[in-house]
Amino acid sequence: MKELLKELSAANTPQDLDNIKSKWLGKKSELKTLMDGLRDLPADQRAARGAEINKLRESYEDAIEDAKKDLSRRLINEKLANDNFDMTLPGGGTRPGALHPVSVIEQKCIDAMRRLGFTVTTGPEIEEPSYNFDLLDIPLHHPARDLQDTFWIEKDKKLLRTHTTSVQSRFMMSLKGDESKLPIRIVSPGRVYRNEAVDASHLAIFHQFEGLMVGHNIKLSELKGTIEFILKEIYGPNVKIRFKPKYYPYTEPSIGADIDIGLGWMTIVGAGMVSPQVLRNFGFDPKRVSGFAFGFGTSRLAGEFTGANMRELYGMDLRVFKKLAGAK
Ligand code: DAH
Repeated sequence: MKELLKELSAANTPQDLDNIKSKWLGKKSELKTLMDGLRDLPADQRAARGAEINKLRESYEDAIEDAKKDLSRRLINEKLANDNFDMTLPGGGTRPGALHPVSVIEQKCIDAMRRLGFTVTTGPEIEEPSYNFDLLDIPLHHPARDLQDTFWIEKDKKLLRTHTTSVQSRFMMSLKGDESKLPIRIVSPGRVYRNEAVDASHLAIFHQFEGLMVGHNIKLSELKGTIEFILKEIYGPNVKIRFKPKYYPYTEPSIGADIDIGLGWMTIVGAGMVSPQVLRNFGFDPKRVSGFAFGFGTSRLAGEFTGANMRELYGMDLRVFKKLAGAK
């Protein structure tokens, strides 16, 4: 044992220790010879001798283990002493993440509308043509139904919704014309899909933010006021807004709104008064019930807000997002 300890204290590398270990515990070690010798002992002495040898082996193993720990501590200390390691240098710092610009705008829209008493409703992205088109009076020959514009999952049966207006359909349908459930005040943010040629300002997937209010005596002026309210919440009180006439099959009259925040006019919302026929499609009597609806292009709002084009906005390039974060 003394001999072993002497050898261990002279070891300078892990390799030295391995050699010592195999010399003292390995196949050609004295210990192994002692173990082999057990076979020749009379049976009544074997157990006692075996226990002795085991004890010896354990003491060797412990000594080697201790030496290993000592050596690694010694090596680390030597390394630290010789390295130019400056413990006082500041670390790399933490880089907190941030929400995607589309999520930021979506949340701003939701917050604004909550203050007006609206609640968030969602609908499926894989939709039936009835909710996406028919109940909204978008007829069969309408170009929006065209193969070029709609991603059909199953011909004439299932599609990827082309607008969040499908959520209006589902919600109104769920009320079954029950006037006691009015007013409806819902908003619905979400992804929509168009089978479009992709360029800097058009993508096959983007985000919209739908709003619907249906009740008694709802007026166009309230629609205008609501749109203005949201836009001012996002862009501040000085945002330039202009309204213009538009056409949608499901609203009468239909309007659009453009904003200018210094980059020229850009259309960011389609809207209108829910058409009498659409109200009837969901079991409401247009003589007593009226409503407004709008669909914001959340992606466009986020683009305007950050100065990014569509491809950058959805490009998932962190360098772009960092630039955007710095810009606003
Ligand atoms: N669905 C229209 C679009 O995708 C936007 C829109 C227009 C939504 C008028 C509406 C609406 O709710 O009333 O461009």
